[in-house]
Amino acid sequence: MRSASGRPAGLVVVAALLAATAAAVVDEQPDGRTPGAWRALDADEAARFDLGHAVFNTSWVPAGQPAGRRDGLGPLFNSVSCDACHNSRRRGRGPLDDGPAPSDFVLQVGQRQADGGIARGHPRFGHVVNTDAVAGFVPEAAVSIRYRARPHARPDGSRITLWSPAYQVETPDGAPLPDDLVLMPRMAPSAQGVGLLEAIPDSAILAGAQPRPGGPRGEPAWIDAGNGRVLGRFGWQGTEATVASQVAVAFAREMGLTSAMIEAIDCASHDDACRNAAHGGTPEVEAELFEAVLAFQRLETVRRTPDAARRLRESRDGARLFANTGCGDCHRSGWTTHDGLRIDPYTDLLLHDLGDALADRDIHGTPLRSRWRTAPLWGISTALEGGRPIRLLHDGRARSIEEAIAWHGGAAAPARARFDALHAEERQCLIDWVSSL
Ligand code: HEC
Ligand code: HEC
Repeated sequence: MRSASGRPAGLVVVAALLAATAAAVVDEQPDGRTPGAWRALDADEAARFDLGHAVFNTSWVPAGQPAGRRDGLGPLFNSVSCDACHNSRRRGRGPLDDGPAPSDFVLQVGQRQADGGIARGHPRFGHVVNTDAVAGFVPEAAVSIRYRARPHARPDGSRITLWSPAYQVETPDGAPLPDDLVLMPRMAPSAQGVGLLEAIPDSAILAGAQPRPGGPRGEPAWIDAGNGRVLGRFGWQGTEATVASQVAVAFAREMGLTSAMIEAIDCASHDDACRNAAHGGTPEVEAELFEAVLAFQRLETVRRTPDAARRLRESRDGARLFANTGCGDCHRSGWTTHDGLRIDPYTDLLLHDLGDALADRDIHGTPLRSRWRTAPLWGISTALEGGRPIRLLHDGRARSIEEAIAWHGGAAAPARARFDALHAEERQCLIDWVSSL
């Protein structure tokens, strides 16, 4: 590994070029939060974009309340609006410490299979443990988290403390959890820029899955679509192929709202009261509102504060260290969308095994086969704005970029080892660079 001072000229030029082209879609904005589109909109599109933003921020209310077009919440749900979880379309705040899980943290569930795999959903809960309910209904369970310290030592003798989560799921009747239940804790990721990820051609993603000598090999997130297969790219495990299905799933499972795309909400299979509860129309989210929030999601760009943009431009060494350490093998930049836009999302949109420590577990704590989509790193600076505490990785266990890197095992273990072997100043330089993406 070269030291931070030995700057190879060729790589500097590449880094400068990357910074220049990325500016076409990553917009500078004083607070990083006011939404903007990644292309020019005509008047109709702009009106729809604004309506979609409003729908994203709308707090839904239980069926039958005089609330115009925004009723039908629940009866079981997790949060009342998209924004309550996605926090100005940025990643969720996530769990800060021991105690009850916050409402933006979603415990998805699965059913353990004989072959060590996981089937998504469980008859006992549906796909998601709904931790809130409208009047007259009880939530499916209360979820709390306890962290255990896990030291991580580096070759230079420095150490950091990692925090390993354990989950407690308490049902209202105190009944024991099914033996084959798998707990799949999930943070709300950033929702910005998903339309751009959707616009990357399948062929380009699949080309990245070809074996490369010495590099990690990702797997495409194939989803069985009945009459064939489609390439998944959204969610921590690439479980949704389109922004539309991701949005429909969010309405149905986390808010209890039906749409034209998903007509059933997320009830346990035996829960007739949930299924037959009063509803807020058929579907509950009217087509116009669904289409608006979808258009908004597809068009919203990724924002960066001028301060983060300046730091990114100035830290050429950060980009070099990121590439040389092997981070960029998975966190890939330099994609071209269907429209010919160059984007730098820092993901290969492929799945990787990051080791047992990060794997989903059954209720006995046994890790099961888990593959994670390389998390896009663009927009990470907006999550750090104003010195807010940040929570990273699929379950929010990492409390800093440094901790997130230290959790990288499995296929990413060689990159982590190279990172750990850097000088302290080089590690800091790389971390600073990632925090300005
Ligand atoms: C209760 C919290 C919660 C609510 C409410 C919620 N989300 Fe999410 N959102 C999540 C979680 C958790 C994930 C990750 C899911 C996964 O990994 O399977 C997610 C994923 C996403 C993604 C995929 C991002 C990516 O890069 O893969 C988008 C887009 C999104 N949500 C949009 C929405 C919209 C639009 C709404 C409102 C209709 C919404 N969400 C409501 C928690 C929430
Ligand atoms: C083998 C592929 C691979 C390599 C190499 C790799 N990563 Fe990752 N990275 C991932 C995956 C997959 C995730 C999501 C894991 C999860 O959420 O459990 C991730 C998550 C992250 C996150 C958290 C993002 C978020 O939204 O929470 C950061 C930060 C990160 N990686 C930085 C790095 C850095 C820095 C390096 C180089 C030292 C690196 N990664 C190397 C695959 C990789």
